[in-house]
Amino acid sequence: MNETNRGIEFLHTTQMGLGAWQWGDRLQWGYGHGYGEADVHAVFQAAVEQNIHFVDTAEAYGNGLSERLLGNYLKGSKPTIRVATKFFPWPWRLSRDSIPAALKASLRRLKLEQVDLYQIHWPSPLLSLHMLTEGLAKCVEMGSARSVGVSNFGTTKMLQAHASLAQRDIPLASNQVHYSLLNRNVEKNGMLARCDELGIRLIAYSPLEMGLLTGKYSPENPPPGPRRLQYGLRLPKIAPLIKLMYEIGQEHGGKTSAQVALNWVICKGALPIPGAKKPAQILENAGGRGWKLSDEEVHRLNEMSDQINPTED
Ligand SMILES: NC(=O)c1ccc[n+]([C@@H]2O[C@H](COP(=O)([O-])OP(=O)(O)OC[C@H]3O[C@@H](n4cnc5c(N)ncnc54)[C@H](OP(=O)(O)O)[C@@H]3O)[C@@H](O)[C@H]2O)c1
Repeated sequence: MNETNRGIEFLHTTQMGLGAWQWGDRLQWGYGHGYGEADVHAVFQAAVEQNIHFVDTAEAYGNGLSERLLGNYLKGSKPTIRVATKFFPWPWRLSRDSIPAALKASLRRLKLEQVDLYQIHWPSPLLSLHMLTEGLAKCVEMGSARSVGVSNFGTTKMLQAHASLAQRDIPLASNQVHYSLLNRNVEKNGMLARCDELGIRLIAYSPLEMGLLTGKYSPENPPPGPRRLQYGLRLPKIAPLIKLMYEIGQEHGGKTSAQVALNWVICKGALPIPGAKKPAQILENAGGRGWKLSDEEVHRLNEMSDQINPTED
């Protein structure tokens, strides 16, 4: 097995990762208000203690701060932590060379020689798919990325990226997309099945629907910041799903709604990467692994999700 395939094998044996968008992001998550550097460091340490050894960051998170913080934490960490980061296709990045150049800057912030997974954060209207995959291939060939993936790619673009990389003998390791009990597009449009067929790991972002699936938010207690507007109309509808998640959790010795939500993603064959602001959150989320919802429970959750969410985003 070559180095690239080893990177991919790791993705397929990992059940849960940790998202690091919260580390340094003020706009969406309010970094510096109610939580800060000491908290995210404690989140990292708690994740490592819980054997969560895969962290997803991006150059865009906190304008590089997320990568910098992770780089600091990696230095003192004993087990090998697998690191995924992302290239953001800013409109001034117009050549394939901008991809290895951006990765070089990420590696400096991360204080690493190589990342385990380098992803294109979003498809670009300016860089062709061919340019994007050429840039990714260069990262692998230079030894700066062990494996490469995409994010927010629809099925057609994902298949094109897969085919284009295959010509260079490089597998498309992953597609990181929105997937939760409140957003099942990738399941319904066939992308998850295509990923399974082709050995592409579907990495599920926002698996807790940005906190909604923990059950702590309601119309009376909406989430702070932009999420209030983003989810204002959906909040009144989710109570029956939260109730069902609670009931099912009770049948598994008191698993919480967050743990049921994450286990549901795992049962579907995807890799959830929940974000956390405080160590207690990641400790709870870690309990979403190590057990399994029954097929009948997954079915009940699907049905309830369909009832409250008949039209997808
Ligand atoms: N590729 C992309 O375009 C993309 C897009 C989005 C996310 N991502 C990645 O996916 C990761 C996860 O997605 P996400 O952060 O959007 O959403 P998420 O994981 O669904 O939700 C994370 C938020 O939920 C709350 N939370 C988490 N665990 C909790 C618990 N046990 N109890 C109570 N509240 C809890 C926290 O916020 P509060 O405490 O403020 O409620 C936390 O910030 C990100 O960190 C990032 O790495 C990628």
